Amino acid sequence: MTTLDTAHQEAAARQGAEDAGRYFQYMAEYVGFTAADADAIRQTRPIIEKHLPEIVSKFYAHLLRYPPTRKFFLDADGTLNQDYLELRMRHLTNFWLRTAEAVFDDDYARYVDYVGRAHTARGADPTIYIAERYVIGQVGMMQHAISEAINRELSSEGAHVEFPAAEAWDKLMMVVLELLARAYGQEREPERFDPLIPVDHAWVSSLARGAVAKEHGDGASVPTKDVVVAAATDIPDGQRKIVQVGSLSIGVFHHDGQWYAVRNSCIHRGGPVATGTLVGDTLTCPWHGFQFNIRTAQNLADPLAELDHYPVTVIDGQVHLHVPDGSAAPVAPVAVAGGAAPAAAAHTPATGPSNGGGNEHDSAALAANEFRMIDVQPGRMKLLSVDGEDVTVYNVDGVFYATADACTHADGPLHEGVLAGHIVTCPWHDSCFDVTNGAVTCPPATVALRTYRVSVEGEIGRVQAQA
Ligand code: HEM
Repeated sequence: MTTLDTAHQEAAARQGAEDAGRYFQYMAEYVGFTAADADAIRQTRPIIEKHLPEIVSKFYAHLLRYPPTRKFFLDADGTLNQDYLELRMRHLTNFWLRTAEAVFDDDYARYVDYVGRAHTARGADPTIYIAERYVIGQVGMMQHAISEAINRELSSEGAHVEFPAAEAWDKLMMVVLELLARAYGQEREPERFDPLIPVDHAWVSSLARGAVAKEHGDGASVPTKDVVVAAATDIPDGQRKIVQVGSLSIGVFHHDGQWYAVRNSCIHRGGPVATGTLVGDTLTCPWHGFQFNIRTAQNLADPLAELDHYPVTVIDGQVHLHVPDGSAAPVAPVAVAGGAAPAAAAHTPATGPSNGGGNEHDSAALAANEFRMIDVQPGRMKLLSVDGEDVTVYNVDGVFYATADACTHADGPLHEGVLAGHIVTCPWHDSCFDVTNGAVTCPPATVALRTYRVSVEGEIGRVQAQA
């Protein structure tokens, strides 16, 4: 082959196939990916940016464990080539940032097509061949990682925000996967089932953070703000306090003479992790038992997954948190709790989180069984107290209903579940109930919920026991 031929082949490979745009649109239509989905993806760009260091790190830690994918990052003497690994991390960062821009034009489609070929012998470097199965696996991993990030960031906004975003990414992943996969044609490579290789996750994580920062520039660093959340004497050693800083619920822990602050949202399903038990250094989420080291915020099973955490300093007897700027003020203490599981802390009706995520108004004038209608928008729910019982009020398309808050299966807090139409799903074991009449619509619960009467007077709603 002449140099000219080679140059031509490389240029063609870089552009991707001529028909890539048409093919992308065809597949997008096939999976029902619409302009509204593109909008939903665009809106998640800040979330993707925020989680990319963790995602890129997981992506490459995985590739480094498996000999057939690890081999691409090794020098001739078998040592890891850090520079090359960082370069690959930067290219991957670029790929997902561009995807999250949601400009799905011909250029984008040709770019994805070109990336697909880059993994095959028909790419710019014909000596590189990555078997299709690994690309399929990594797309699956990305799909999971993105849906986890969306869940963590948007579950408090309600299902009507979270689900469209997650669904849009699911559809897009199918199209991206097909574009990457079609590069393979008939090529197949037999698997050798080599034993896995242990990986230094902390090292991969720090390399990925550096690569994402370089690729994304300084704009990736989130500005922080200093917020005073309590007097140090309010939280004696061995105690904690849940504070609300803007939209963030944060658990501030005074533990063994040190201070720690973690977001009160479990990486698994957004459970109130900071209200869980703290035994030694291990904090256990009360919903599904996910465990974290309070000192590092790392998940015990997967140290690459961390709770969002914030630096704490005590200055002149005041506890300061450094939180993302956008989340600062107003600061509201929610509950103080000790080392044991304070289930009531997260569920305290008068001061607990609204779960609806809506604009909280001064609740001083309201009785425990009352709510401002503006605080419970359609699709939202709110925890109240009626005659000493926890009761959740739901807004279903402008009509209010109320049921007992505790799931009849295992007492899961329904106000922290998902409300879709008139069906609420328990966050603990996925039992579902029709909120209009309390009936069970899916197991494991078998007993209906008690329902309550909701009356409305001006801007105020009131929940009472049925006559
Ligand atoms: C979600 C799946 C994947 C995505 C989105 C992706 C993305 C990319 C991107 C953006 C490039 C750069 C293309 C360029 O500009 O030259 C690339 C190249 C590369 N990728 Fe992937 N990749 C994926 C899966 C994998 C897997 C499973 C491996 C296994 C080791 C891998 C290894 C490589 C290598 C070695 C190159 C360099 C190819 C060359 O130099 O020609 N990728 N990938």
